[in-house]
Amino acid sequence: MTSTPASFFEPPDLIAALPARPFEFSQAASREADSIVAGPAAALFSRLIGDQETESTWLVARRVLDAFLGRPADPAALADDASADEIAEYVAGVRTDLTATIESLGVGRFGADARDAVLRQRAVLGFLTGCWLDVLSQPATQPSVIVNRLFAQHFTLRGEANPRRTLHWRRRQRLEQDGVFLPEIAAADFLAAADARPLTALHGSFYLALSRLPANFLPELVGVHYAVLTLGVDDLLLGQDPMIGETELRSVLAAYLELAGPAERARLHAGLQRAIDLESEHVQLLVDLAAWHADLPLESKVAAVIARHAPFAGRHHKDIRVGDRPLAETFTDPELDLAEFLADFRESKQLHRTPDGLSAFVRAYKFGGPMFGIFSEREAAVFASWVDSVQAGERPPIEIVQNTVGDERADAWMAAIKASEPADVVVSDPGEIDDRKFFYRLVNIENFANTMPLARQRAEELFSSAEVLFTCGAGGRYTDATYFPYSADALYARAEQVYWDKLVKPYKPLTEIPDRDEVVFLQTTYALGALVDATWIHRTANLGRSDRRCDAALFSIYADEMGFGDLRKNHIMLIHRALHSMDVRLPHIRDAAFMEQGDLPDPLYGFSLHQLCMALFPDTYYNEILGYNLAIEMFGLGELRLHEVQKLNHYGFDDCYEQAHLTIDNISAGHSRQAADIIVAYLDEVRRVLGDAAVDREWRRVWRGYASLAYFVEHALLKQLASEPEDDSLSLLI
Ligand SMILES: [Fe+2]
Ligand SMILES: [Fe+2]
Repeated sequence: MTSTPASFFEPPDLIAALPARPFEFSQAASREADSIVAGPAAALFSRLIGDQETESTWLVARRVLDAFLGRPADPAALADDASADEIAEYVAGVRTDLTATIESLGVGRFGADARDAVLRQRAVLGFLTGCWLDVLSQPATQPSVIVNRLFAQHFTLRGEANPRRTLHWRRRQRLEQDGVFLPEIAAADFLAAADARPLTALHGSFYLALSRLPANFLPELVGVHYAVLTLGVDDLLLGQDPMIGETELRSVLAAYLELAGPAERARLHAGLQRAIDLESEHVQLLVDLAAWHADLPLESKVAAVIARHAPFAGRHHKDIRVGDRPLAETFTDPELDLAEFLADFRESKQLHRTPDGLSAFVRAYKFGGPMFGIFSEREAAVFASWVDSVQAGERPPIEIVQNTVGDERADAWMAAIKASEPADVVVSDPGEIDDRKFFYRLVNIENFANTMPLARQRAEELFSSAEVLFTCGAGGRYTDATYFPYSADALYARAEQVYWDKLVKPYKPLTEIPDRDEVVFLQTTYALGALVDATWIHRTANLGRSDRRCDAALFSIYADEMGFGDLRKNHIMLIHRALHSMDVRLPHIRDAAFMEQGDLPDPLYGFSLHQLCMALFPDTYYNEILGYNLAIEMFGLGELRLHEVQKLNHYGFDDCYEQAHLTIDNISAGHSRQAADIIVAYLDEVRRVLGDAAVDREWRRVWRGYASLAYFVEHALLKQLASEPEDDSLSLLI
């Protein structure tokens, strides 16, 4: 066997960490990040979950990670070379301590109100569990052994792509059984509905930050993942069985330790310890919160309800006076002193007992009264007990107790985030870059986020240019991008027609096989696309974006492409196997050496760049991605592939990549069919929410995604269209 030069990649991919690289951001992103971290914790959380497409959010993520991971882990806790069993024993000890505390948070000790508050608070983190695995699988990290082990667990936590079987959904259902109903996690009012403390929002921000830069923080991520899932705070609190048992978690931990050197082990320990510290800190917050609720004087509860409603109440109380002041004035006073108001209110005639045993105030918010429907059942109950106590003559000193639970720790974390200046952040402009450099930066996008504006521009230009095929796409050899008015039937009919007329019917076995070099060359023209297989959907269906049926179905296709974490079925592994059989040796696409590779021809980069570019904008280009997905899944079928199989077999090359696509992408139930079903499901939702007019608009965007694949493969047609092509991308693929 010949030895492989270090710059050539050969599976298995045994990385334990990506090579250390700086993180590049533009000047504009740097300024924007400064202003984001200057805001409150809740805004930071909302930004991190709500925006996955802008550079500044990624810089914020880098700063959050720096603040949380910057301080070294407790050196006494674990030996540098601790085994998986030793780590497990350590975490189990922490779990035992936490279990006793969590058990004390049942209804018995603190009461129903406190329990409700605890469940809401914890749900913010409980719903985030595992988000750090969302985009760990990406072009830079595939086909890593450890990434695929973790992907298998990700697939489990995602309910094997069934949105009603996910960890998130199980927790939500359990909470709803306890009467805790919360909006979707990315909804604007989620944190308010959970009554999230700033400390909770900051802990959540740490996990979200990790989910934005998972490839670069793989060692820490492995530690966080093991610690959070093994401690199982949410499982203990909700009385649920873990979805992944400790044995399985430990086995991935052990697999990682085998790959890790001392530096990676230290980083794993840092992540593990930080997660343990944070979970312990959060359990303490829950205890403090429960105690705060349990000890809250009735007057404070009343004050909290009034404070909640006062901003909306003012002008409705025109003629009503409490104390010497009209309520309209009291409730619009920014300096409103709630204690003083309550003191006046409890002496006012509105609280005097009426003949029916109530009071004017209580009657006002009951059915038939002018304030009916304003207060929740729980709030009304607080008022009712307070009025009873007032009528019974109780006049305790009025004390308004602010909720400051966790604020000291929150202030410390927030100060650390504001002060963080990671040494590996570089402010620079990407400047002029050629396709090879562009490809390298997109594959390693976590380190080159300043390339995002260029990527967005490139994707947009391609989608727009591709619309040229809306009028003449029927002349395509493998596709028909001619525009047609949408209906589900029309879409299925177009897919069938392309499949039969363009991909299947023209097929006749080759009577002559080209020479060996030509066969290898043609395969290399496909390889650059294959090395980033499924990239176009690797960022869809992330946390906060996986509620729609179509999102789960997209995740299902992606998971299938990655072999559900089983490397034998992983498509990136298959293409490496195929290339290896043809003796094509390449560096890994994540390595700088790949920019110098000499086997894959330059004009082909455009195709892969397009996939990488659109993938970075799963919100903006959701529709286009759906259309592209259909086109590319269908491109795996029919004559072209069958010929390739025949040629590969002739020379004894490995045809696993081609074979896998001929079957898995099939149009009756495989990826091609699923891709069409996803479009239909998505547009059906659009119609139900926004009406028919919106469907036309959204559909046009879906179809330009389809056309953008055709734009790369129909070079003969495009040449015909432009006898003097001005754009190099018109002569792309083969
Ligand atoms: Fe594939
Ligand atoms: Fe596929």
